[in-house]
Amino acid sequence: MTARRRILVTSALPYANGSIHLGYLLEAVQTDVWVRFQKLRGNECYYVCADDTHGTPIMLKAQTEGITPEALIAKVNIEHQRDLAEMLIGFDNFGSTHSPENEVLCDDLYRTLRAAGHIDRKTISQAYDDTAKMFLPDRYVKGVCPVCGTADQYGDSCENCGSTYTPADLKNPISVVSGTAPVWRDSEHYFFKLSTFEASLAAWVKSGAVQESIARKLEEWFTQGLRDWDISRDAPYFGFEIPDAPGKYFYVWFDAPIGYLASFTQLCARTGLKFDDFLRKDANTELHHFIGKDILYFHTLFWPAVLEGSGLRRPTSVHAHGFVTINGQKMSKSRGTFITARRYLDSFKAEYLRYYFCAKLGPGIDDLDMNLDEFTTRVNSEIVGKLVNIASRCAGFITKNAAGTLAATLPEPGLYAEFADAGEKIAAAYEARDTASAVREIMALADRANQYIDARKPWSLAKDPANAAEVRSVCTQGLNLFRVLMVYLQPALPEMAVQAQRFFQEGAWTWDSVAAPLLGTTISPYQPLATRLDPKAVAKLVEPPPEAVATVTASPGAQATVTVKVTAPPAAPPPTRRATASTAASDEATLAAAAAVEGNSISIDDFLRVDLRVAKVLSADLIPGADKLLKLRLDVGDLGERDVFAGVRAAYEPAALVGRLIVVVANLEPRKMRFGVSEGMMLAAGPGGREIFVLSPDSGALPGMRIK
Ligand code: 2FM
Ligand code: ZN
Repeated sequence: MTARRRILVTSALPYANGSIHLGYLLEAVQTDVWVRFQKLRGNECYYVCADDTHGTPIMLKAQTEGITPEALIAKVNIEHQRDLAEMLIGFDNFGSTHSPENEVLCDDLYRTLRAAGHIDRKTISQAYDDTAKMFLPDRYVKGVCPVCGTADQYGDSCENCGSTYTPADLKNPISVVSGTAPVWRDSEHYFFKLSTFEASLAAWVKSGAVQESIARKLEEWFTQGLRDWDISRDAPYFGFEIPDAPGKYFYVWFDAPIGYLASFTQLCARTGLKFDDFLRKDANTELHHFIGKDILYFHTLFWPAVLEGSGLRRPTSVHAHGFVTINGQKMSKSRGTFITARRYLDSFKAEYLRYYFCAKLGPGIDDLDMNLDEFTTRVNSEIVGKLVNIASRCAGFITKNAAGTLAATLPEPGLYAEFADAGEKIAAAYEARDTASAVREIMALADRANQYIDARKPWSLAKDPANAAEVRSVCTQGLNLFRVLMVYLQPALPEMAVQAQRFFQEGAWTWDSVAAPLLGTTISPYQPLATRLDPKAVAKLVEPPPEAVATVTASPGAQATVTVKVTAPPAAPPPTRRATASTAASDEATLAAAAAVEGNSISIDDFLRVDLRVAKVLSADLIPGADKLLKLRLDVGDLGERDVFAGVRAAYEPAALVGRLIVVVANLEPRKMRFGVSEGMMLAAGPGGREIFVLSPDSGALPGMRIK
């Protein structure tokens, strides 16, 4: 018998300024399944988490909502806890980084770091908004990319050319908070001397604390050299003030991971557990963090170094996962593929998504694509068609023909033993966070169980009362195989497992419950454990939310006027420009709707055949030898990128179009021109030449949005 392990586990802390979405659910499910597995194996395992409540975005969001940050985070905490509980995430404690426990720990750790010489003070120059009276984080400054000239780029990197820089490099910088140009101001900041820890971090990485692909990434970071880390921010800031530094606050990323420990402190206070048993330097317990691959730097460099510098133990492992994509695309609010936990849970059982994630999630950092058709098919064919089917085909015969009592022996003990023996391989897969392999093994066993029942056909045997004993025997075998599968699936399907325990009239299972079959005991009448998903209902998960729908009102007729009006989400700034114009085509192509202008009316259906989309101009280039044309590279959201040639050269300098949102006919037959293939048409109004005006949607529209 192996020793009982003592394990503390965390998921990354969700920010308190937004809803829980499918991307976070993947992480919560992965962690929860691992924790439930550990508990089922008899290990002492605790799972803590909290809301990540500090920082500028939360402070500003509270301002916009006209409430205090405290009120905002309290409201969001309730929502988060409700969504995660419905998703069957079994935290032992869910706290908040804005807690007294966290403030005490941040102070303690900081003082220890400072006393040990790990904190430096340096004066830095930073963008300051003199109207809003605050320093601006990089993403709160926007301007023209210094490298490619694209307008409207954040202060840290360009979405168009991928360059990274500082806000000071932007041309025409503007504060996102007030809309005014920032000034540059000096301020003293506190730095954690990360470089001191380089050798010990390298040793920690070698101890197997991270996945292999991540160890390689870390090698790169070591080669680049570790830079000291600015852990302070100036007032106004929603966070904890730094001891002995009035007006200076801990940067949110300093206090967030300490929030793991603060949440654990609360658990200790409630249960009598000892904080030191899990956190002191020589603790013989385990500490595991589950995170997304985007926050590796914080968890594999800063965090272990902060722990070490504070005299505490380092994590046993930091395990990263990839992102969730929906039908092959990044989740996107504008495309309606940003699926919140609430939206999912309002229509579907948590366990279907838990199962699907487990079935697809390996131990690596690849993204996980949630394909909605595949989701439906797997739930219907695997959970309903294979797993639950075993019980539903056997249970009735025991209840009706055998007074609800299982037979005293199994007809095929060898088959049962095969199922029980598979447990160690499945356990190894769960342990290695390879739930995809675990589910694959379990479902292969489910196939074997179904084959057994198909071969013995209890429904045929039952037609002759002389076979009663055999029917009972076959169904006892089938139900025992089902029971083994449910034990193995309990980490993924905890509610169904409890229902199955009730059906078998048993108490809570452990992983070893499969060692012996259930024989001669009474079972309860079978209640359906799962029902089929309707693909039409599943498809609705990605319908664009009503406020993001782009609408066109068309009045066909001789004077046909097409009004392109994009309804912006309520929080968006007021429209800067209303794109209302008589339909006009550039001189390079014809538009179906233009027929209306000629006096031939078309039906609304004809008009709707035109696939009008919002597009973003990524680049605009002169074409040697074509004095009327510009070559535009467009981002049309889910339709990808494409080239369009537009006859607007006389009216526009190329740079004036770059970064701008326009309206494009996306389903025009590609036209081969002398200079290349034009894959669509940009809408513009006016007679032509210098008098041509490109149409743009109101602000709030995003590339790929359909105008319908
Ligand atoms: O990236 C995020 O969503 C952060 N809120 C995660 C914090 S995890 C930890 F360090 F607290
Ligand atoms: Zn650029």
